[in-house]
Amino acid sequence: MLNNLKNDFPIFKNYPDLVYLDSTAMSLKPKVVLEKLVEYYSRYSANIYRGVYKISEKATEEYEKTRQVVADFINAEKNEVVFTRNTTESINLVAYSLGRKIIDEGDEIVTTVMEHHSNFVPWQILALETGAIFKIIDIKDDGSLNLNFQSGNLDLDEVITKKTKILALTYTSNVLGTINPLKEIIEKAKKINPKIIIVVDAAQSAPHLKIDVKDLRGDFVAFSSHKMLGPTGVGVLWGRKELLEEMYPFLYGGEMISEVYLEKTIFKNPPHKFEAGTPSIGEVIAFKEAIKYLKSTGIDKIRQHEKELTLYCLKILKDEFGEKIKIFGPKNIEARAGIIAFTFDNFHPHDIASILDDQSIAVRAGHHCAMPLHNRLKVNATVRASFYIYNNESDVEKLVLGLKKVEKTLT
Ligand SMILES: Cc1ncc(COP(=O)(O)O)c(C=O)c1O
Repeated sequence: MLNNLKNDFPIFKNYPDLVYLDSTAMSLKPKVVLEKLVEYYSRYSANIYRGVYKISEKATEEYEKTRQVVADFINAEKNEVVFTRNTTESINLVAYSLGRKIIDEGDEIVTTVMEHHSNFVPWQILALETGAIFKIIDIKDDGSLNLNFQSGNLDLDEVITKKTKILALTYTSNVLGTINPLKEIIEKAKKINPKIIIVVDAAQSAPHLKIDVKDLRGDFVAFSSHKMLGPTGVGVLWGRKELLEEMYPFLYGGEMISEVYLEKTIFKNPPHKFEAGTPSIGEVIAFKEAIKYLKSTGIDKIRQHEKELTLYCLKILKDEFGEKIKIFGPKNIEARAGIIAFTFDNFHPHDIASILDDQSIAVRAGHHCAMPLHNRLKVNATVRASFYIYNNESDVEKLVLGLKKVEKTLT
């Protein structure tokens, strides 16, 4: 297990009792990230690209350095990294700039029932607007995708055909915690249809797993800074260079152009043609400190830490509450992230979360922006506890004590 990293996170000094179990929605920030934010705002808080004066040049240099740090983190080329506001915007960028260009009536768009709304609704709307067929891969009872992995063969042929133009799927489910065998799925899908465009929602994997875009061989990968110790207001879209080059911009305006005339506009090359207007400059600059922190801690160690905490939590929830707690998602820890969504007796998830909050335990309750999945699981809402780098066994034990109080209060 990782040694107690709470000391690196100032929030725990200000709120020592906090048991923070909602990193799936928002991670906490280490001091190095906050310091970098203050450095930008207090030393060189100028706009980027446009100033010929020193502090603007410094801000531009720091901003572009982050692009390189992100590229190295996912084994990409620097100009394949586009900064957006969040994962949602990254996925919408692809749906608008590429989707609306390549999708015609009768084409197929494939996604899964376990998607977050941000990787579901943009494709559903695109299908509705164009008359494309919207196909959804179901899950099995264990929370894995309903694909046949036995003998190494995925029966993807039944869903993916030569007419499938886009496959949009999550690497890790934000509810079930399922880690999908992405590499195998991509390989097989590209064999069935080499022209398929594969969009990966990596919002829940970039913070916890090694991502190598060259090895994965997808076409787009989207994730958010705020879920990986970085500031809010920063998303990443990695896209294959050839695709980014041929795509139209998503937003038009300042900084994404190279020349503008009364009758026409010439755009900059990617990634800049996708970054119209003033971005979240200080936040992008500070994002690289988050990535450096993750790298120096070690992504493999982080994953191992989360596996141990998750196993411990699954075990004590079972030991203490037995069948009263119903946990969703895979039992096999190798296929599961540090996310535990559950129902408890017939107590309402919002009541559970609110009683836990009285004890300074922060969990999420609701459908977690995954309504199709909750409908599929036949529940309106779940409680979700999720772990990250700063959590420890004591947090898990406090959750169990908190749930005992819930039981006492609501029965
Ligand atoms: C799997 C998944 N995809 C996408 C998103 C959306 O991320 P954002 O709110 O940063 O756009 C989330 C957020 O929780 C998520 O968990």
